[in-house]
Amino acid sequence: MKFFVDTAEIDAIAELNDLGMVDGVTTNPSLIKKSGRDILEVTKEICDLVDGPVSAEVVALKAEDMIAEGRKLAEIAENIAVKVPLTWDGLKACKVLTDEGKMVNVTLCFSANQALLAAKAGATFISPFIGRLDDLNMDGLDLIADIREIYDNYGFETNILAASIRTANHMSECAKIGADVATAPPGVIKAMANHILTDKGLDQFVKDAAAAKIKIL
Ligand code: E4P
Repeated sequence: MKFFVDTAEIDAIAELNDLGMVDGVTTNPSLIKKSGRDILEVTKEICDLVDGPVSAEVVALKAEDMIAEGRKLAEIAENIAVKVPLTWDGLKACKVLTDEGKMVNVTLCFSANQALLAAKAGATFISPFIGRLDDLNMDGLDLIADIREIYDNYGFETNILAASIRTANHMSECAKIGADVATAPPGVIKAMANHILTDKGLDQFVKDAAAAKIKIL
């Protein structure tokens, strides 16, 4: 499973990128707002830093305006994936932009039917939102599994990009289901390293190393 990092914070992306943890980046208008940066500037910086796809989201609601914005975003760099919402207009924009050879990430997906439509429209990525479904007492991971089954039934090539990831557990569950990509905030990716038994075991090793005066250097 590929790891995308879900942020527009350059320092956080760079830290994970240096460790080889970043296969791509996703942003959205809320993340751009949080960064306090200009969308075109910060997106260019991210694209220069990361080799993989960098999702930049349109803000228009009508297909023709989304297409114009998507073309402008795609000019930033070759690794831009234009992000469009899963509306009828978004699907129209997806079809036009993918026909032009651009990568398109269809976002705000909350049902298997929506994912089916995005695949038919040629989306490069479909972004089902796990956490926002969980927030409503629904099971976001079930949606990932349903989309995996449907895409595999028909050989759709659209990549399942599990989004709205809130916990380290979401990451391993997505990997078990077979999501192609999971995009998570930097804190969630780092939290994947944590285990209480690791902390406990290390504590004992540190004590024993001191007691035995073990020195390596
Ligand atoms: C990524 O593409 C999505 O925009 C993001 O994962 C949404 O996450 P949230 O539900 O935590 O805002």
